[in-house]
Amino acid sequence: MSNKKNILITGGAGFIGSHVVRLFVKNYPDSHIINFDALTYAGNLENLRDVENSSNYTFVKGDITNTDEVARVFQKYEISDVIHLAAESHVDRSISDPSAFVNTNVNGTVNLLNAAVERWKGRYANHLFYHVSTDEVYGSLGDTGLFTEETPYDPKSPYSASKASSDHFVRAYTNTYGLRTVISNCSNNYGPNQFPEKLIPLLIHNIKTGKELPVYGKGLNVRDWLYVVDHARAIEVVFNEGKPGETYNIGGHNEWKNIDIVELVCDLTDEKLKRDTGSARQLITFVKDRAGHDMRYAIDASKIERELGWKPSLQFEKGIALTIDWYLKNEEWLNGVTSGDYRAYYDKQYAQ
Ligand code: NAD
Ligand code: DAU
Repeated sequence: MSNKKNILITGGAGFIGSHVVRLFVKNYPDSHIINFDALTYAGNLENLRDVENSSNYTFVKGDITNTDEVARVFQKYEISDVIHLAAESHVDRSISDPSAFVNTNVNGTVNLLNAAVERWKGRYANHLFYHVSTDEVYGSLGDTGLFTEETPYDPKSPYSASKASSDHFVRAYTNTYGLRTVISNCSNNYGPNQFPEKLIPLLIHNIKTGKELPVYGKGLNVRDWLYVVDHARAIEVVFNEGKPGETYNIGGHNEWKNIDIVELVCDLTDEKLKRDTGSARQLITFVKDRAGHDMRYAIDASKIERELGWKPSLQFEKGIALTIDWYLKNEEWLNGVTSGDYRAYYDKQYAQ
């Protein structure tokens, strides 16, 4: 990326967004990074303390579903490009409140697309709208096979249906208006700054505080885990080198059954806390399965490797150790996000 850009990153105070913001602020000092985030329960400016005073960074509190706020940020900062991550992102919450997911993930995305068409009309060649999506749009796999970019969409949860819908809108705007867009669909991320409603940080938090470790069903569902900084690097590569109109799958080549990852996190955390081996495993509790629980996700990430030269850089063993260390060390961050509303959410979600 050579010329100066004004890049709007939506959802930049969230888990993945904060790693993307950090990478772009550091790597593109001549560009202006505008982080547009509504600061929902999942957004946290603590995630960005180390870059918040950078001269090429601006935070704007705003809601992607609010047409006026979106128009204002596009105009004020002469936005040249968008990297869109803002979303409701947790499957369990989409089961209890699907409408919030339609509102943010579908209506919010369409709102941003409209603003881009409005501002960039007639000169699309200079602009890019990058939509960050998920592998869950492809549905659920059996014991074998991988999701490729050609796998037909088959979303099965309200969350994945809303993400699939937003992907379709992005492609429709390319086809209908000529907007230059690119989409990537990534597998499960893990790493620092993930809200502890998601499996791995929830486990670490509960082990630390001696609470039960809820495993849905028999714990046999499979996910493909990628370290969040590797995802941020992939987003940078797709932003710079991705071919407009294309989709890129991003994944870790790193499939784990839930129960295996739970036991691994138990053992590593025991070790780091200098507790007796096996003590965390005693907290494992099999609970009622997630409704419509997708069995297996696995990504074929060969296209992005072949065409753009990206592949995961961090070995899982190292990534998971770094992650556990981070949560144990950042007690204040963890306490901050698990007080207040989190308790109410947790009690409701895990009531048997
Ligand atoms: P997250 O829930 O941690 O963060 C979402 C961010 O979006 C928060 O900062 C929140 O405040 C913001 N936001 C929510 N609603 C908003 C609104 N109406 N207006 C403005 N900002 C709003 O999510 P994440 O896990 O970092 O995921 C980021 C993106 O990546 C999402 O689009 C998600 O679908 C996608 N994704 C996530 C994963 C994963 O494993 N977490 C994997 C693949 C793709
Ligand atoms: O695949 C990409 C997706 O990964 C992203 O698009 C989503 O935003 C992200 O939340 C994630 O979805 P999952 O539903 O796979 O992630 P989660 O961490 O919620 O759950 C991982 C697995 O662990 C899943 O099979 C459900 C199971 N689980 C989860 C929780 C929170 C449990 O067994 N117990 C739990 O308490």
